Amino acid sequence: MATAALVAAAPYLIEQAYEDYTAEQHEVWAELVRRCHPQVQEHACREYLEGYGAVGLRNDRLPNLREVGERLKSRTGWVTTPVSGFLPADAFFEMLAARLFPTTTYVRSRQSLEYTPEPDIFHDVFGHVPMHAHRVFSDFVQHYGSVCSKIGDPQVLELLGRLYWYTVEFGLIRQSGEIKAYGSGVISSHREMANVVARGCEIRDFNLDDVLDTKVKVDELQKRLFAIESFDQLYGAMQETERRVDAGVLR
Ligand SMILES: [Fe+2]
Repeated sequence: MATAALVAAAPYLIEQAYEDYTAEQHEVWAELVRRCHPQVQEHACREYLEGYGAVGLRNDRLPNLREVGERLKSRTGWVTTPVSGFLPADAFFEMLAARLFPTTTYVRSRQSLEYTPEPDIFHDVFGHVPMHAHRVFSDFVQHYGSVCSKIGDPQVLELLGRLYWYTVEFGLIRQSGEIKAYGSGVISSHREMANVVARGCEIRDFNLDDVLDTKVKVDELQKRLFAIESFDQLYGAMQETERRVDAGVLR
């Protein structure tokens, strides 16, 4: 089993007790999907929509991570792997480098449908997992984890956190002349998606230096996001990042 090789992440691995979810928790998932679905159908990128069906997500029930992981593994080698909560950086990078996507099993309550301070299963699975069915995007995330897992300098890691934030979490892409979302923070948040659609934020063409110069804002709607032209462009940016890290000149 691939998880046996994990060191830093080992203490955080758990099982998903799927049978223990209550009818109310399944209904919270269904309500969250209902809220996001119209926007996502219209404004998520085509790779996300294709991935959603490919990994077998259902609109009316919480995902069974073992089943999702099996489908994902046959596509791109990634496995959705249940973890107990927010991971320290070394554990997180170790998992990404091993193509194991850390996935929370907790589902937010009905009282906090709009916002949950910590990622829950809706953010992690509805938001992130479909994109991991796409080969180039998922290679980008694996490469990111592998580069970050070798870095000890917190300042360099903070800069690399910006790259993750403005791609995996809040990334946009131009498709057929329109802005579409591929980042989980946009796809899994009704408010963030509405903000993008209404152009409440500035949308710049993706540029690595620009991204590395833009601080992360975690507690407010995003004011500046970046649109790539293709996932190949994103993968190229990761290769450039690795070159700069190796040369000690990230920014
Ligand atoms: Fe996330």
